[in-house]
Amino acid sequence: MERAVILIGTETGTAEDVGDELLAALEEAGMEAEVLDMELARSDVFDGSRAVVVCTATTGDGELPSNSVDLFEVLEEERPDLSGVVFGVCALGDDHYEDFCEAGKIWSRFLTELGAEEVVERFDIDGFPEDEDIEGAREWAAGAAGKFTGLVREG
Ligand SMILES: Cc1cc2nc3c(=O)[nH]c(=O)nc-3n(C[C@H](O)[C@H](O)[C@H](O)COP(=O)(O)O)c2cc1C
Repeated sequence: MERAVILIGTETGTAEDVGDELLAALEEAGMEAEVLDMELARSDVFDGSRAVVVCTATTGDGELPSNSVDLFEVLEEERPDLSGVVFGVCALGDDHYEDFCEAGKIWSRFLTELGAEEVVERFDIDGFPEDEDIEGAREWAAGAAGKFTGLVREG
């Protein structure tokens, strides 16, 4: 079965709720998936055995949520070769801020720089997620599952 991990970057928990919706959609699409707080993730989460969904809010002025800073810094230090890793980004933000969904954009750029392949266009949620945003996120995840399927190495 194809596998995925949903990495949560959050300050106040909203991204975690969205992550649960993404999880449900990936599972409905036949994937084996789990949600993981970035605080608890090690860099080997990007070992290529699982597709990665980054689900992150933005805080400060376009900054990564505090629970994701350590993981990001470890990756910056280790700079692993992530070729063979497929990923997608679901970004939460608020377009009243100048750097809209910047944390999602940062992950997208950084993982690509390390050799991973973003196989589905980033999905941005503006403001507190309404029903239609959740619906959109689930549809996005179903589409991502389609892209991941066949691209992920047997884990
Ligand atoms: C102090 C603060 C700073 C924020 N900075 C940004 C920002 O720079 N860019 C952006 O798009 N959204 C920004 N946001 C909006 C959050 O990313 C958005 O509300 C998100 O849904 C929060 O998710 P969370 O509960 O998982 O942390 C900010 C929110 C707060 C409270």
